[in-house]
Amino acid sequence: SGIDSLGDLRGKRVLVRSDLNVPLDGSTITDDGRIRASVPTIRSLADAGARVVVTAHLGRPKGEPDPRYSLEPVAARLGELLGADVAFASDTVGDSAKVTVEGLEDGQVAVLENVRFNAGETSKDDAERGAFADRLAALADAFVSDGFGVVHRKQASVYDVAQRLPHAMGGLVATEIDVLRRLTEDPERPYVVVLGGSKVSDKLGVIDNLLGKADKLLIGGGMVFTFLKAQGHEVGKSLLEEDQLDICRAYLDRAEESGVQILLPTDIVVDTAFPAGDREPQPRVVPASGIPADSLGLDIGPESAAAFAAALADARTVFWNGPMGVFEVDAFADGTRAVAEALTGVDGLSVVGGGDSAAAVRTLGFDESAFGHISTGGGASLEYLEGKELPGIQVLEA
Ligand code: 3PG
Repeated sequence: SGIDSLGDLRGKRVLVRSDLNVPLDGSTITDDGRIRASVPTIRSLADAGARVVVTAHLGRPKGEPDPRYSLEPVAARLGELLGADVAFASDTVGDSAKVTVEGLEDGQVAVLENVRFNAGETSKDDAERGAFADRLAALADAFVSDGFGVVHRKQASVYDVAQRLPHAMGGLVATEIDVLRRLTEDPERPYVVVLGGSKVSDKLGVIDNLLGKADKLLIGGGMVFTFLKAQGHEVGKSLLEEDQLDICRAYLDRAEESGVQILLPTDIVVDTAFPAGDREPQPRVVPASGIPADSLGLDIGPESAAAFAAALADARTVFWNGPMGVFEVDAFADGTRAVAEALTGVDGLSVVGGGDSAAAVRTLGFDESAFGHISTGGGASLEYLEGKELPGIQVLEA
């Protein structure tokens, strides 16, 4: 099902769905990991003589053009990484796209403007999505699905277009699925999962599924405060999802019954405000059971970081999703740094999943090769681990 299955590609127009959804500060790309991960497939298609047409999204615009979400800076970065000129179409399926694709020579690459500037892309209405997919498909002779980060989305450029063109799975998607399968099918033990990030509600499915599979579940990040509150602690001004308290309580009970160890932090780094405004951050370490009423938690404390690292020391399989604190601010980055450091020492398979944790290990200066695998998928890798069907994969296998 790889790109070889498409036969001789010389002179053929190949539409590639990549995930180029990178963090931007204005028009500056702050982490280009996803663009770099997309290069091998694009390059191999170009090397095979295809006329490569890349489609992707950036952010969540509302189905119409919005200059804040233009892919133009991303196309420029892709060109630098490929070491070749990359043409850019200022629309996705309109006149600019048609002229740009017609102008491609064998082995050349073009990027279409943000696919989510079109309401049809994300429409829940099959006919509306299909009509847009028809226009995308008309630009190409074949389709390659390589945007792993979006395979959990039933969207025109991920799902419907595959039903309209000869299609193949790109190498990035194949690699990602391979690694995630190793996490779900008979993982080597101890199997330790580290979850962070701000919301419990984003992680319910995966916690549910992992309670039966992992040996230890380490929980940090903003979601920790809902767990601490569920244990009866006061959490001050920390992030709290009141409506998830019962669920957290149930998880803690279930973990006890099923013999899975849930590790929560025992100390927390707090400040009285975030963002700190004009002043410097004033980090203070307090016990997790004693967060002052005027403070909010912004990272796990040093004792917790050491305990998490110890729990990871003898792990043979690790999956980590979500930062332990506000790692973008140096004063609150130590917990995330400690977990990343511990992962680099794992003797076995260590997987970093999720846009944020992947960006964290890179912005904190870790060498990517120190990890077994850094996934380009956030929601997609979580949904895979939840055991959900991924529409963008299903459609390729149909
Ligand atoms: C991601 O950032 O996880 C992917 O690019 C998917 O983006 P989405 O959540 O906006 O669909």
